[in-house]
Amino acid sequence: MNTSKNHDNIDEIYKKIWDCLKLGIKESKSDYHTFSLATSDEKLSYNRTVVLRDYDIEKHTIIFHTNNLSNKVKQIRTNTNVSALFYSKDDKIQIRFTGHASINNQDEYCDERWNKMHPQSKQCYYQNIKPGAYIDHPELVKTEKTDLLSKDFSIITININSIDWLFLSSSGHIRAEYLRINKFVGKWIAP
Ligand SMILES: Cc1cc2nc3c(=O)[nH]c(=O)nc-3n(C[C@H](O)[C@H](O)[C@H](O)COP(=O)(O)O)c2cc1C
Repeated sequence: MNTSKNHDNIDEIYKKIWDCLKLGIKESKSDYHTFSLATSDEKLSYNRTVVLRDYDIEKHTIIFHTNNLSNKVKQIRTNTNVSALFYSKDDKIQIRFTGHASINNQDEYCDERWNKMHPQSKQCYYQNIKPGAYIDHPELVKTEKTDLLSKDFSIITININSIDWLFLSSSGHIRAEYLRINKFVGKWIAP
């Protein structure tokens, strides 16, 4: 999708932001399929790539799956403030979401999503060594094919508070910010 047209209407841009996410979920080749997730603890900031799994335009949320034993979950427990950064080279669009993350684990929601997952994806959540642990050799890490909901499977929901949208163009960059005051209200800002 090339969303680079009609960037003069701030409310239309808002709708297009969610269209980008829709595409990211549908098309694994879309630039919006993954995003960079930033978390932090008391001392440092960290980022890494995760797969966008779903979004809710009414609730203003996006979600991804992760291992409950991972460092990012530990960081979210310390500090729920996170940022999600999308960039499409084709569309020349960057979208930065900021919000609060919450963790679902071993509940109905996890069960529901787990049951829709591919067996290969489930396997990652049955690993003998916790993600991020130091090991003597990569071959020591083993996974197991199991259908039962893993206790290590977590869903992270990001409750979005603000959106920073940037379109790069040789005829002038365009930037808009949307702040959540019950619903999102957009304002043009200098790029
Ligand atoms: C293309 C790509 C997609 C990824 N998707 C996920 C994902 O959806 N969830 C996840 O936990 N890690 C995912 N990872 C791995 C993370 O980037 C990261 O290496 C790992 O989760 C450990 O991060 P942490 O130590 O900061 O918790 C992905 C990596 C790449 C390169």
